[in-house]
Amino acid sequence: MTDADVPEAERVSDEGFLELDRRSRRRDEPAPERRSAAHRAVWIERTRHLVRTDPAGCWVAEDDHGLVGMVSSLRREVVWCLATYAVLPGRQGQGIGKPLLAAAMDHGRGCTRAMLSASSDAKAVRIYHQAGFELHPQMHLVGTVDRGAIPVVEKVREGSASDIDLMDSLDRAARGAGHGVDHELMLRTWRSLVSDSTTGSGYAYLDERGQVALLAASNRRTATRVLWAALAEGPESVTVPHVTAANQWVLDVGLAARLALGQEGFLGLRGMKPPTPYLHNGALL
Ligand SMILES: CC(C)(COP(=O)(O)OP(=O)(O)OC[C@H]1O[C@@H](n2cnc3c(N)ncnc32)[C@H](O)[C@@H]1OP(=O)(O)O)[C@@H](O)C(=O)NCCC(=O)NCCS
Repeated sequence: MTDADVPEAERVSDEGFLELDRRSRRRDEPAPERRSAAHRAVWIERTRHLVRTDPAGCWVAEDDHGLVGMVSSLRREVVWCLATYAVLPGRQGQGIGKPLLAAAMDHGRGCTRAMLSASSDAKAVRIYHQAGFELHPQMHLVGTVDRGAIPVVEKVREGSASDIDLMDSLDRAARGAGHGVDHELMLRTWRSLVSDSTTGSGYAYLDERGQVALLAASNRRTATRVLWAALAEGPESVTVPHVTAANQWVLDVGLAARLALGQEGFLGLRGMKPPTPYLHNGALL
């Protein structure tokens, strides 16, 4: 993938996921929509960042008419992460996706750990299992936050570039590697909250929709405080995605806030256990 491919790669991924959402939609749910302009801009900026930092981890498949498939991945210290992976709906199941993933995984050669957030797509799940990933179900909490349930949260402040070392050390304790240059991207694109006190440290990012995009902490108590602060700062209607069974503390917060619990997709892992206390990001994990 080159920088010039990124907008078309965005279209391939949007169409791939839109079709998946259509197939998995319950009849009472609203029809899935294309990514919003803001979401698309963040997607493009993130993928351009990965093409720059991890050119050998980002690949496209094309035919005479243009791109038909794309994959982006990253290597941070000892961890390889799959960021995005999609083939155009009409071209799926024809052998385009597997060699794309193999090329991206080759970039992770030598990494002792690997992470990906899988959709429930039957083909994706089959491919990840074949590639040796353990699949851990993901839950999410969704709804309108009961503002009256939010406790007084102290010792949480806005984050900045001077917090990157702290954030990286929390990442290392949770998943074995810092997010490194990805923190620069996230600080540029999103809002961050940091807590650093004698009883523990933690941080969270709120994405362009105000949803929790990543959270790491040195202990559950601090993680809980940071999540409450994120809910207090976020919009009325929220989703807290990517909750694994190892992170029951998220359920304590989300259910106290009167959010509803659901399930979607899997955290795929190699060489590691589900990180905790931690809420992974879907692309940068
Ligand atoms: C996941 C995805 C990228 C894979 O690309 P692809 O070109 O469809 O994959 P391939 O054709 O190379 O391989 C598909 C595998 O699933 C199998 N398969 C095909 N249809 C299937 C079905 N309905 N159910 C289960 N397995 C199926 C194929 O036989 C093949 O496995 P095999 O080689 O062991 O026989 C693509 O399907 C996609 O974009 N899905 C929607 C978006 C998505 O979920 N992306 C992943 C997000 S984490």
